[in-house]
Amino acid sequence: MHSGIVSPPGIWWKPAGRQEKIWVTIALVWCLIMFAMMPLWHLRGGQNPTGVRSKVEPAAFVARVNRFVDEYKVGEEQGLPVVAPPPGGHVYLLARMWQWYPVLKLQKGVTYTFHVSSSDLNHGFSLNPVNINLQIVPGYDYALKMTPTEAGDLRIICNEFCGIGHHIMIGKVLVTDGASSAGAAPDAPAPNVLTAEVRHD
Ligand code: CUA
Repeated sequence: MHSGIVSPPGIWWKPAGRQEKIWVTIALVWCLIMFAMMPLWHLRGGQNPTGVRSKVEPAAFVARVNRFVDEYKVGEEQGLPVVAPPPGGHVYLLARMWQWYPVLKLQKGVTYTFHVSSSDLNHGFSLNPVNINLQIVPGYDYALKMTPTEAGDLRIICNEFCGIGHHIMIGKVLVTDGASSAGAAPDAPAPNVLTAEVRHD
């Protein structure tokens, strides 16, 4: 019997047995396969987006977002501006306690350069139901090329705990079907979209 007081007899200095050697070999081979897969997933699988991180002063980023809103605002939704940037243009999104600012209206099949940063603390960008996850760190502009492939009503969920309002930090991205996009935002959420309110102050 072992107890917490009397240590079990050790045999670690004896040579490894056959089974242990087999398991270690299998684990090592699997590690090497996964290691080789990492660049493959990146290059062929379209995973792990290649973002460009650059430093930015939080205040400068807020000013840039405000300029973006002033320039391309097309409406308002629950107190938040709805912004439709020109096709192929730059998109600026601000994460702050506890909202994603502004609401974005994008076109399907168009590539945008997406910039996102925080003005206060770390937030987590999680686009639903599309699986895109980014960590949003104040002081850094995370730029990324993005092409919406389906029309719909998407939600940005903050998936990094950021304080008392973390659970209500939900943003909105509307992807319209190109030509028929002018006018009102789609009312019915796409299937599998989390239905949640857009937070506003
Ligand atoms: Cu922002 Cu959690």
